[in-house]
Amino acid sequence: MQYKCNALKPIPKRLLIPIITDLREYRQAANDTISYSRDIVNKYGDVCEASFTGIKNYFIHDPEVIKEILTTQSPKFKRTKLFRAFRKFLGNGLFTADDPYHKQQRRMIKPAFLPQRVEGYAEAMVQCATEEMSTWKDGETININQAMTNITLNVITRTLFGSSLPADTIEAVRDRLPAAFNVMSRIVENPFYVYCLEKEIGIPIVKEFFKARAAFDEIIHGIIASYRKDNGNEKPGLLALLMSLKDEDTGMGMTDEEIRDEVITFFIAGHETTTLALSWSWYLIGGHQQVANAFYEEVKNVIGDRLPTAKDYQVLPLTKNIFKEALRLYPPAWTFAREAMEDIVIRDYHFPKGAILWTVTYLVHHNEKYFENAEEFIPSRWDTEQIKAIPKYAYFPFGGGNRMCIGEGFAWMEGVLVLAAIASKFRLHMPVGFTTAINPVFTLKMTDDLLMKVERI
Ligand code: HEM
Repeated sequence: MQYKCNALKPIPKRLLIPIITDLREYRQAANDTISYSRDIVNKYGDVCEASFTGIKNYFIHDPEVIKEILTTQSPKFKRTKLFRAFRKFLGNGLFTADDPYHKQQRRMIKPAFLPQRVEGYAEAMVQCATEEMSTWKDGETININQAMTNITLNVITRTLFGSSLPADTIEAVRDRLPAAFNVMSRIVENPFYVYCLEKEIGIPIVKEFFKARAAFDEIIHGIIASYRKDNGNEKPGLLALLMSLKDEDTGMGMTDEEIRDEVITFFIAGHETTTLALSWSWYLIGGHQQVANAFYEEVKNVIGDRLPTAKDYQVLPLTKNIFKEALRLYPPAWTFAREAMEDIVIRDYHFPKGAILWTVTYLVHHNEKYFENAEEFIPSRWDTEQIKAIPKYAYFPFGGGNRMCIGEGFAWMEGVLVLAAIASKFRLHMPVGFTTAINPVFTLKMTDDLLMKVERI
């Protein structure tokens, strides 16, 4: 190990031989990021450097440093190069934009996600879960990943457009979005594809992507145009709200292109993450009988025969703790990175301009320093005094600071109400001995489909 020499705290550095070990390291880091960064952190500590292929990479797993990256020093960071590829799909929406545009958009969109608004979306969340359950037959085996995708995709579609769109338009949105998203997911798994997409080099997968994107854009622009024609009058849903928002300084609203970018951002950022959080929750419930019994009991006592409502969110503490613990053990957004726009000092560590700071949320969430028996599923840990003492950024499934997930409140409401709506009508059984593992791609997927038998209550 060699220490970088600076006047501040030395940052342990992994030594690599240029080109020879460089490429091997890149492949390991790209293909198996969690194991790779776990090894690096175990060997070199919570703040360390492993630079390869000409990029200065720093691995950050100290909650206090993470806090500064995300909050106090965030104006000195921007999105990394990978986001240029995402921009080909998401445009310049909240997720991909950098300041000052990001700041302006965030300020404008914030009202759409205030708690009272989110409460207004609760009914659609429960309705979508109910519609999905109406296709289930007592005793049959359901693919939970698919069922949760159906629910979250319907929730985001209904939240954006209300139920005012013709069924065939809704159907087209639901068909074309996953098609484009799937091609995008395949591209981000391969650095060569990412490069070709960024440069718009016409290899087959890039052509396929642009075709799928054009098909999705056609339908979204059609919807926006129809809203404009009607002046958005009386239209329900988030889209009409987005179209009516005005910047408080300039008094300007969003252009059609800006609205398209935000709509697609909400689709992408909002449905897959929640699908995964729900699927992992069912996996954990299915594998822990005692927790499962207490969970079904809670739902029976609070909800009984009726449908859950926004108010129930406050009175389902175990359901909420299950969702919280699932987000700890299996954070859907399991890693993120920031690029330093200038030389930055954080807690006496010096990071040079251009450095990429990586944080693997998954590893921090599994650290015994903050969570006793960290590998175990213990929803009740969230009620202990001990948990109140952990650093704020030891648990951050929704990120933090000015880029914190704008849909966090939405996701909590959806997670808790969908779990409760289902558990009030069905008990889900996982095959005895079934286990799956993490598949960390763009989001934290399962390596296997989760199949569960549904028993009507
Ligand atoms: C369990 C579900 C969810 C998880 C775990 C999650 C996680 C995250 C995380 C970690 C970030 C920050 C990424 C970063 O700092 O680089 C983020 C950003 C974002 N999320 Fe979520 N999210 C979830 C659900 C949602 C929902 C339901 C929506 C919208 C309906 C949404 C919309 C967004 C947007 C627009 C951003 C970008 C915010 C910005 O940069 O200003 N997310 N999400």
